[in-house]
Amino acid sequence: MGLVSGLEVIEQCVSRGLVAGAFNTTNIETTMGIVQAIENTRVPTFIQCAPTNAVLSGYEYIHDMVSRRLAKVDVPVALHLDHGRTLDDVTQSLAAGFTSIMMDASGHEYDTNVDLSRKARELTPAQFALEVELGSIGGKEDDLGPEREATTDPDQVAEFVAATGCEMLAVSVGNVHGYAPDVRIDMDLLRKVQQASAVPLVIHGGSGLPRQQLGRLAEFGVVKVNVASDLRNAMIRTFGEAYAANPNEYALIRVSQQAVTAITDVVENRIRTFNPKLAR
Ligand code: 13P
Repeated sequence: MGLVSGLEVIEQCVSRGLVAGAFNTTNIETTMGIVQAIENTRVPTFIQCAPTNAVLSGYEYIHDMVSRRLAKVDVPVALHLDHGRTLDDVTQSLAAGFTSIMMDASGHEYDTNVDLSRKARELTPAQFALEVELGSIGGKEDDLGPEREATTDPDQVAEFVAATGCEMLAVSVGNVHGYAPDVRIDMDLLRKVQQASAVPLVIHGGSGLPRQQLGRLAEFGVVKVNVASDLRNAMIRTFGEAYAANPNEYALIRVSQQAVTAITDVVENRIRTFNPKLAR
């Protein structure tokens, strides 16, 4: 099937009451692990890459690797730009073949956030989905923290969604990027945000959140949950354990295959956590 648009993933999830995982990739092991989990669960999914993740390879390489692996997979998967910070990030990833876009101008004041998000909407073809962020999510991604942290104000949601023309809204409701102790979603705040608009919601920072909360997100209008740290940790842990067990290890392919399996396990576990009614 190859890549589909972000809108198609959202529409399929909304109509089937599913929550899409959105998993960050940077390399072939991570990509192979994610796609195997998608084949095992058959849930529409986003594979994503942030500008900070693309430093090593560039967007074209990520696009070619992901779309080649998906060519014979008949589950809808979109390739999403995660945390585009500039309009140039949007243009470059679209030129490389990405099919879904996030413009994250949440580090700016409200009016600039609206302005940049609207410009990103103009650059993004209508059939692709645009995700924007209101409030500013804390924590760190690839050692990069936000310029500021702020929870999403439900009173701004309807106006922001209308002004930006977005199809998905990333919210800051207690969730943070990366691992931090005792992180929880404020479910009352999430409910207020949901009641303010019909726009599908996105939760970032899926790695550190309690399982019990992650299994209820569909009831709160959430359509996409981002997960990155868990996958990276699985990969780094696999190589670290192989080296610790044998500092003379040289069978790179075998360890790479173990990393793929570890990533598949993490991703499949997350997809099933987001969708507790999924048949086995
Ligand atoms: P985690 O690293 O906490 O899973 O967050 C990932 C994320 O939100 C990517 O945008």
